[in-house]
Amino acid sequence: MRTVSRVGGSDYADYLNLELLLQLQHPRCSRIDRWVHGDEHFFIVVHQCSELMLRQILIDLKDAGDAMTPPSDGDLRWCIDNLKRSAESLRLLGSLMSALHFMRVKSFASFRPLLGKASGAQSSQFRELRLVLGLSGNRDGALFDAFRKLVSDRGCELGDVFSQLDVDHVLHRIAEAMLNLSEAVWQCLTEHVRLAAWMLGDAAGTGGSSGVGYLEKRIAAPFEPLWRARSVAHVGGA
Ligand code: HEM
Repeated sequence: MRTVSRVGGSDYADYLNLELLLQLQHPRCSRIDRWVHGDEHFFIVVHQCSELMLRQILIDLKDAGDAMTPPSDGDLRWCIDNLKRSAESLRLLGSLMSALHFMRVKSFASFRPLLGKASGAQSSQFRELRLVLGLSGNRDGALFDAFRKLVSDRGCELGDVFSQLDVDHVLHRIAEAMLNLSEAVWQCLTEHVRLAAWMLGDAAGTGGSSGVGYLEKRIAAPFEPLWRARSVAHVGGA
């Protein structure tokens, strides 16, 4: 491995740890069929990119939640920036899923047995994200808890956030950023179902689920009370 002195700065490859990064893709199929090999390489790269984006999203959402929680030295505008960035990162995740449609189905079928029981269902970062967003069990999730507390610390109810039509109000802007994030989560999960349907049809998942039917039931948009409060304030819905 190349050794680069850290004294006096580093170059592009060193800063990004590229030498190591580009050694981490190991298709299991034979190199003899270069097309299948290239497709499996693409499959691995998309999953690795997704995990990197998930890591960034988890960092950004933790910081956003902390900024809403006293004693915070965080600026609430930074919290909004992070929420918006996470939504864009999730849309990027959805685009990665969309790009994976261009892996040949025939190639996928031929290297899929080599995955064994490996499945996205084992992604610990994804599980953590569902937890933070309140999509696991009956908990609202750390992010929504932090927002609810911020709202009550400022002497407001959730409904006030939308009904006091001061659009510059910081609570209102955080709430809208959270709903934008919620929509991006929904979009990403939907894109995943579309991909699974394209690749698998009726086949079961490698992780043992029924496949597309299971994934459809997992589609959700977090922060449901916020959607409800907004609908009541603006549309008059119940
Ligand atoms: C050919 C592409 C893909 C197919 C056919 C596919 C299919 C599936 C299926 C059937 C499941 C359900 C669990 C199982 O039985 O295995 C699943 C779960 C999952 N997949 Fe994928 N997937 C694909 C690509 C991706 C990509 C690119 C990601 C990005 C990280 C991803 C992340 C996940 C996650 C996080 C779960 C758990 C979902 C949950 O439990 O709600 N998948 N996938």
